[in-house]
Amino acid sequence: MGLLERLRNGDAVFGVIGLGYVGLPLAVEMARGGNRVVGFEVSAEKAAEVNAGRSYIPDVPTEELAEFVSAGLIEATTDFGRVSECDAVAICVPTPLNKAKEPDVSYMVAATESIADHLRPDMLVTLESTTYPGTTEEVVQPILERGGLKVGTDIFLAFSPERVDPGNPVYQTKNTPKVVGGVTPQCTEAAVAFYERFLEQIVPVSSTRAAEMSKLLENIFRCVNIALVNELLMLSERMDVDIWEVVDAAKTKPFGFMPFYPGPGLGGHCIPIDPFYLAWKAREYDFHTEFIELAGKVNENMPYYVIKRLMEALNTRKKSLAGSRVLLLGVAYKSDIDDMRESPAIKTAELMLDKGADVVYHDPFVNEFVVAGRSVPACDLTADALAATDAVLIITAHSNVDYALVVDSADLILDTRNALSSYDAENVVKL
Ligand SMILES: NC(=O)c1ccc[n+]([C@@H]2O[C@H](COP(=O)([O-])OP(=O)(O)OC[C@H]3O[C@@H](n4cnc5c(N)ncnc54)[C@H](O)[C@@H]3O)[C@@H](O)[C@H]2O)c1
Repeated sequence: MGLLERLRNGDAVFGVIGLGYVGLPLAVEMARGGNRVVGFEVSAEKAAEVNAGRSYIPDVPTEELAEFVSAGLIEATTDFGRVSECDAVAICVPTPLNKAKEPDVSYMVAATESIADHLRPDMLVTLESTTYPGTTEEVVQPILERGGLKVGTDIFLAFSPERVDPGNPVYQTKNTPKVVGGVTPQCTEAAVAFYERFLEQIVPVSSTRAAEMSKLLENIFRCVNIALVNELLMLSERMDVDIWEVVDAAKTKPFGFMPFYPGPGLGGHCIPIDPFYLAWKAREYDFHTEFIELAGKVNENMPYYVIKRLMEALNTRKKSLAGSRVLLLGVAYKSDIDDMRESPAIKTAELMLDKGADVVYHDPFVNEFVVAGRSVPACDLTADALAATDAVLIITAHSNVDYALVVDSADLILDTRNALSSYDAENVVKL
């Protein structure tokens, strides 16, 4: 039986390389579609947790994972030799930047090498990690082909960008349309047949490059528009205009406008990082992606701007930042999740510590907050603790925080998320 037939019959075994924020929800969706899944991890702890039916990803309920594990549909392993059991394998490993803001493809290379060592004819490999156009064919394909199997005839290869939005109550892995671009039309056909087994809508495109670029366009679109509104925020402050009111007014236009909000800076694994993958690749074509560079510049300045505003707010109380006790409220990179990656709270806290502030934090989702090797103490959100602060700085507005208590008890609050829009209080300063 060929790959397409096995996929369409439901006989195919699926593999997921990397069981993180992207890979674990993907494995669960595969299992929900009735498919048997083997998850491959370098972390023995994560593999053991999955095999015990315990989820460490907030979007994956433990009960659900446990059900699929006990039904024998999901298992995890660190033994990459078992890749040969799989008919289709999706790579979901990290794609960070190095210190020079250049793509670090080492995880992707390592994952592809582990597959290549156990590749067999008629297998499909898809890459889901966000990366620059050209990666699938320039980095992944040569590694897969080095044993002699050819992509398009012996094996199949496609890029299909992950679009997961952690914490989104409406759009999850299953109902978010999936873009797929294969190296050849046969590769695209196989990848479409694979994803159709467990996702609602597949969007085939003509090439791996188009699929790779589409993901970057989505993230750059967000990055540039956030920078635009951040720039307008800084102008609005000087002009004494409330930018939040302006965005709310503009968004009543039923067409041609989409609201973006200012904030303390970009966070997460995608928006602050992915645009630089394209900027780096563009240089190979003697091309400078100026929108990306400019947006990066504006967004990277936001924590500095927040600190300036905090110092001005403290000034109204005749206080300096040095020696002030500041409670950082919400340190995860966005509301209602526990992910700290690239959170603007990190830079903001670092700047405050460098200036001699006494920084503590409260975040119902985050148990530990370490900034440049320094551990920031956690603080319960009580009336006494709030009263003992010189300022509260809201960086991330989680929905399970008692904001009424904060407004009642703190002397001064700088709100970078407009979380306190319903409070008209003298002690609240909006970014
Ligand atoms: N998290 C998101 O919201 C999101 C959204 C869209 C796209 N993406 C992209 O998806 C990719 C994965 O991101 P993530 O958030 O799931 O990362 P993650 O760090 O949560 O998970 C990656 C997992 O891969 C494992 N891993 C690393 N190297 C491995 C290897 N060689 N073999 C097997 N496992 C390995 C790690 O132990 C980790 O568990 C990235 O390219 C990211 O840009 C992430």
